[in-house]
Amino acid sequence: MAWYQEWFGEEYLELYSYRNDEEARQQIEFFHREIGAIDGPVLDLACGIGRHLQELAIRGFHGVGCDLSFLLLRTGVREYGQLPVARADMRNLPFCSNSFGALVNFFTSFGYFATEEENLTVVREMARVIKPGAPFLFDYLNVHRELSKMIQKETRETPTGTTSIERWFDSSDRSFNKRMIIDGRRYLERVRGYDLDEISVLFTSSGMTIREAFGDFDGAPFDRESPRLILFGARREE
Ligand SMILES: C[S@@+](CC[C@H](N)C(=O)[O-])C[C@H]1O[C@@H](n2cnc3c(N)ncnc32)[C@H](O)[C@@H]1O
Repeated sequence: MAWYQEWFGEEYLELYSYRNDEEARQQIEFFHREIGAIDGPVLDLACGIGRHLQELAIRGFHGVGCDLSFLLLRTGVREYGQLPVARADMRNLPFCSNSFGALVNFFTSFGYFATEEENLTVVREMARVIKPGAPFLFDYLNVHRELSKMIQKETRETPTGTTSIERWFDSSDRSFNKRMIIDGRRYLERVRGYDLDEISVLFTSSGMTIREAFGDFDGAPFDRESPRLILFGARREE
């Protein structure tokens, strides 16, 4: 099994429990402020348990989620009630072309695949399912900061047990790797680190334009020290 098929379960939710509803509320508030007019539903690509879908609904948006993890989608139903979600792989979205008015992709839900072609396929799928002119928000890691601030080894206590974490950057495929050992069970997180120039090439070659790059959800501009790389853009008009 690929790492992303194994990792996004109970232990993931425990380790990242600080990625909670309050954070989603602030992020959707920022999205609402910056996104402008939207004509149609908003796709939350890799929605996880649906914490952003819940906040979109509170603000009157029609959100639709898509995620591969059955466990996370099921946890979302328990947490928030029924939300419109599809279980699918982001490389092959089960939606018609031109069907969404906007797209969001939060918390580094990109760069998961073994080949560049597969990661590019995801961007092409994003562009395919949104309407011409439809805006997107893409929230991703900042490679410069991740490299300079990397903590190579640490231990954390969570309700599921002691988690030991090891991190490294693999320059052969430019991936950020995180090995987690939780009560003897081993998990991996592996994300291809694209910098702003590389991401821009992926998006522009897939029919999207990038309007602005932020470095955090407080609206600060992006620079090499920023906690995040948050892009706003749109699919090009035909
Ligand atoms: C870091 S989590 C972020 C979840 C959510 N966006 C959030 O902010 O809470 C990444 C998400 O990507 C999903 N995912 C991983 N591989 C996927 C794939 N191949 N297709 C669709 N979703 C995938 C995981 O199940 C997980 O929910």
